Amino acid sequence: MRTVEHTRQGAAAQVLTLEERPRPPAPGAGEVLVRMLVRPVHLGDLVGVEGLPGAPEQYAQARTPGVEGMGVVESAGANVQGLRPGQRVAVFPVPGTWSDAVVVPAGLAVPVPDGVSDETAALMLVNPLTLSMLYRAAESALRGRKGPVLQTAAGSSLGRLVAAAAVRHELQLINLVRSTAGARRMRALYPSFPTVATCDDDWRDQVRGHGGEQGVHVVLDSVGGALTQDLTELLADGGTLISYGRLGSGTTSLESLPLVARELTVRGVNVLRWLSRTPEERTQDVAFALDLAQSTPDLFEVADRYDLADFKTAVEHARRPAKSGTVLLTTPRSTDSGRRAA
Ligand SMILES: NC(=O)c1ccc[n+]([C@@H]2O[C@H](COP(=O)([O-])OP(=O)(O)OC[C@H]3O[C@@H](n4cnc5c(N)ncnc54)[C@H](OP(=O)(O)O)[C@@H]3O)[C@@H](O)[C@H]2O)c1
Repeated sequence: MRTVEHTRQGAAAQVLTLEERPRPPAPGAGEVLVRMLVRPVHLGDLVGVEGLPGAPEQYAQARTPGVEGMGVVESAGANVQGLRPGQRVAVFPVPGTWSDAVVVPAGLAVPVPDGVSDETAALMLVNPLTLSMLYRAAESALRGRKGPVLQTAAGSSLGRLVAAAAVRHELQLINLVRSTAGARRMRALYPSFPTVATCDDDWRDQVRGHGGEQGVHVVLDSVGGALTQDLTELLADGGTLISYGRLGSGTTSLESLPLVARELTVRGVNVLRWLSRTPEERTQDVAFALDLAQSTPDLFEVADRYDLADFKTAVEHARRPAKSGTVLLTTPRSTDSGRRAA
C-alpha cells in the first residue's frame, strides 16, 4: 500500500516521501482495518511535519501525517460491534491517515450516514469537534454574556464554522481577516457580523468601534505570533484570549502582556486532546458533528482534491493565500490501489 512518510522535521516538500509499505496486520480485538479513501490536508498536519516545540527533530521510526479521514471498513477484529466490512466510516484521532489503509480502534470509527458524501465525511470530525471545544471555552469565559467575541483568520474553514455557530447562538461576533478581498468574502457570507481587515492601518480602531468602549470579552485566535500583543490590547479587563493556532509570524512574550494588571486569561484549545473529554461529552460532540454534516454540508467546503501520490501539490495548495475550503488527498475507490500494492 502507499503511505506518505517522514523521518525528520522540515519543509513538507523536502521531508515527505511516498513509500510502498506492507499493509497493516489483521485488526486485533476491538479494532477495524479501514481502507482510506479521502483525508484532509489540515494546516495542523503540516505543523506536525515541520516542527513543534518539544517534538524530536528526527524520528526513530518513519511517521505518517494525518489524523482524520474517511474510508471503508475492510475487516473487523474480535469484539467489534456495529461495524461491518464495506461500511463507510469517518475516523479521528487516528495517526497516519495519509496512507491507503490504517488500523483503527473501533470506538474511533464513526459510521457515515447515507446522504453524507465521502468528502464531507472526511472533514466532519476535526473542525466540528474543535468548534465544540472552542464554543465551550468561549461560553465559560463569557459567563452568560453574548459577546463581543473577536475571531482572527475568520475566513478559514474553522472560522466559518465559528461564524455559523455565532449566528445560531446569537453571539456578537467581530470577524478579523488579513486582506481586503478576504473581508469582502466574509461580509458576503456573514453580512450580520462586522468584518475588519488587518491590512487597514486603523484596524484596531475599527475593532474598538464595533466592540464598544469596554473592549471584547473573548478573542478566538488562530494567528498568534506578533498579533497577540494587539489582541490582548483589544480585550476588556478580565477578558480571555483563547489560542488555537499559530498561522502568524513573530512572537509576543508573556511578560509583555498586562495579564496581572488587567486580570486577563490566556488559554489554549487543542482538538488532539479531545479524547480527554468524558465519554458523554464525546458522544455529544460526535452527534453534533454528524448533525452538522447532514444539515449543512456547505460548511465543509473543498478547495480541491489530489491523489495521495500528488501530496506535494496538495500541501502547496493548502498553504496558498486566499484559498477557500480544505484540500483533500484521495485514494481511488475503483482501482483499490491500497489492496493491489500489498
Ligand atoms: N487547536 C486545534 O485543535 C485546531 C483544530 C483545527 C484547526 N486549527 C487551526 O485553525 C486554523 C484554521 O484552520 P483551517 O483548517 O480552518 O484553515 P484554512 O481553511 O486552511 O484557512 C486558513 C486561513 O488562515 C488565514 N491565514 C493564513 N495565514 C495567515 C496569517 N499569517 N495571518 C492571518 N491569517 C492567515 C487564511 O487567510 P487568507 O484567506 O487571507 O489566505 C485563511 O483564511 C489553523 O491555524 C489551524 O491550525 C486548530
